[in-house]
Amino acid sequence: MTLAVPVNPFRIHGVVSDSYFTDRGAELRRISATLAEPGAKIVVYGPRRMGKTSLVTEAIRRAERRGGAAFLADLSTVSTVADIANRILDAAARALGRKWKDAASDLVSRLGVSVSLTPDPATGLILPSLDVALRSASLDAQRASLAATLDTVEAMAKSRKTTIGLVLDEFQEIHRYGGEDAEWHLRGAIQHHSHVSYVLAGSEAHLIERMLGKGRAFYGLLDQLALGPIDSAHLAAWIDDRMTRHTVKAKGAGARVVALAGPRTRDVVQVARRCFERARATRSPAANEVDQAFDDIVAEQDAAIRSAWDGLTPPQQNVLRAVSASSEGLTTHESLTRFGLRSSGAATNTAVALIDAGILEKAPTATGYTYDNPFFRRWVAVHTLGDLGLPTPPIGPVKMR
Ligand SMILES: Nc1ncnc2c1ncn2[C@@H]1O[C@H](COP(=O)(O)OP(=O)(O)O)[C@@H](O)[C@H]1O
Ligand SMILES: [Mg+2]
Repeated sequence: MTLAVPVNPFRIHGVVSDSYFTDRGAELRRISATLAEPGAKIVVYGPRRMGKTSLVTEAIRRAERRGGAAFLADLSTVSTVADIANRILDAAARALGRKWKDAASDLVSRLGVSVSLTPDPATGLILPSLDVALRSASLDAQRASLAATLDTVEAMAKSRKTTIGLVLDEFQEIHRYGGEDAEWHLRGAIQHHSHVSYVLAGSEAHLIERMLGKGRAFYGLLDQLALGPIDSAHLAAWIDDRMTRHTVKAKGAGARVVALAGPRTRDVVQVARRCFERARATRSPAANEVDQAFDDIVAEQDAAIRSAWDGLTPPQQNVLRAVSASSEGLTTHESLTRFGLRSSGAATNTAVALIDAGILEKAPTATGYTYDNPFFRRWVAVHTLGDLGLPTPPIGPVKMR
């Protein structure tokens, strides 16, 4: 007889769906409606780990269940404009190939540029990809291939008298490879498409907000959906309920998990996942295990955080110490002295550099800043305040003003 190992009701690897996915009802309805409406265009943006990819993937699933066609191209790792075209082509062939048998050959014949065809053993599909030489071709040639790929999807939707929903995930990457020019080019490629609907999803809110501003390429083209945190009370209750259903007594663990790890959904679910594991092993209520679960994750991320820390300048490290301690304003006389900050102007400039590096963000805390990664914040408190002769503060939520 084999003993069934109870599954952990929290998942953090990849996107989540079904019972691992909670809330977001209004957002789902809005994105699903966009995917089904010919020519509709929306941008969904919010911080990393908030749940954008899970959300748009769930919306695609719903669209497919209703008989629609929709797919996601992940642009998070691309290095060239040709890579973007390739990602879209590959995703289109996979998703549309499941729906229409002749989709891949249809794509290729409409595309009108040379592609290679490779059978994919996992799915049995024949997948087209653009000539690799295109990656080092002129920017114009690469852009033409991107426009041709998008036009091809449009033509397919038109000929099949249907709407194809296309999600470009981490679309702000196009800015990295071509700045504002690339934004205008993408606008030009999609604005007249009336059979494809577009969902542009992305992190790096500051970059995206600029891309949507007056005088910029996407101004007035897109509906907007800013994705914020899931309601704390809802998330806390959901965590308790998931634990209880999987035979672990929660005793209010959810609220503590959200307080310590919020506001990013993934961070919260990650602590819930570890907390569940600990509580199952110790057979004690999950509420007793939350703080230690949080510190387990800090320990798990030690190597990555340490190497990030080592890559920072001493003034940057000092600002991070001050933000981690968060006892008072960053630029008070007391703070400047205690944390060895040269001047209030220098401290503020350093904080701005840390925001650009994705380590800090503005927040209504004592210092005016908070960490992107709550485990980094705790690591700095545990490992570096001792350098200044300060005690490690007890584990606790970031205090908001
Ligand atoms: N609606 C949700 N319900 C439950 N967990 C979620 C939800 N959205 C996100 N998560 C958690 O966050 C993790 C990261 O989500 P993801 O969609 O990849 O975020 P993003 O694309 O914003 O970086 C998921 O693996 C899951 O653990
Ligand atoms: Mg994502």
